[in-house]
Amino acid sequence: MKHYVLLFCDPGIDDAMAIMLAIMHPQIELVGIVTSYGNVTKNQSTINAEYILKVAGMSHIPVIPAAFRSFSAFEEVSYPEIHGVAGLGSIVPEHHFPGNRLGFDTIRSILTTYNRQLTIIELGRMTALASAFNLYENEFSQVKNVFIMGGAFFIPGNRTPVAEANVYGDSVSARFIFRFLQTTIAPLNVTSQAIITPPLIQRLTSHPTFGSTIQAILSVYIKYYQEKHPQLSGPPIHDIVPLLIMVNPSLATYVSRNIEVITMGEATGMTVIDLRPDSPIGQQKIAWTINQKQLLQDYENAMFGFYAGG
Ligand code: RIB
Ligand code: CA
Repeated sequence: MKHYVLLFCDPGIDDAMAIMLAIMHPQIELVGIVTSYGNVTKNQSTINAEYILKVAGMSHIPVIPAAFRSFSAFEEVSYPEIHGVAGLGSIVPEHHFPGNRLGFDTIRSILTTYNRQLTIIELGRMTALASAFNLYENEFSQVKNVFIMGGAFFIPGNRTPVAEANVYGDSVSARFIFRFLQTTIAPLNVTSQAIITPPLIQRLTSHPTFGSTIQAILSVYIKYYQEKHPQLSGPPIHDIVPLLIMVNPSLATYVSRNIEVITMGEATGMTVIDLRPDSPIGQQKIAWTINQKQLLQDYENAMFGFYAGG
């Protein structure tokens, strides 16, 4: 089965790895990339997406620059020590590439064109997704599925003690999305297990299309994780998980609950669900456990074009 994917993202290293996965996966057709602030500025994330498409020889795919700031009105901070100075490790793309850069209303055309076949994947702050949903409510009602990387449930956050970075970065938009749109969520609980170990990294760096790009992209990220999280066997590539569970839902187990997002005070960005034994089933499907070994096998299979799963 083919999955037609409109990808919202903020590349950033793990977003860039997810774009490469979407390009390589035999069961995914990437129909557009919506780029926003997050790991880097909106302008830089747009250039970075165009850079990856150029490496792949896929510059015809629409790139849609979208949100430049959070509705939570935070001043964004960037993370050069994690993502590199331009968000792609040691790569600094100098300018934008002749490509297919289009306006925001292209999202509406894509929703209409692909209709019930379209899956939306959100890998960054949810500002652009919330804006599109607010503007194109009727078209969104036809979308097949929405997958999101975001949130942390009953575990520490990665941006604050209680908040995951994507939800923290625009808690207002996250709250809006979780209130009004049915989604499948890959929270930190499962994405932190998408760890690429040195042998897998070595194989990825000899990839026929993306090998040298992956090598340069991962250099800063690997060093950061070796220094800050030496207990891990490699860096987590959070943003590949929504794509992989979309294609192969059996990789994860799920709980279905409504999600509340804290939007003020110390706990801003915290995602809260009611998991008491008699609590009601809700509209958000949350990946709760993941088969780490199979996840990484599916990832490698897809990157090297011999995926045969789900
Ligand atoms: O919390 C993980 C998320 O934050 C990922 O999407 C990563 O790109 C970072 O922005
Ligand atoms: Ca991201």
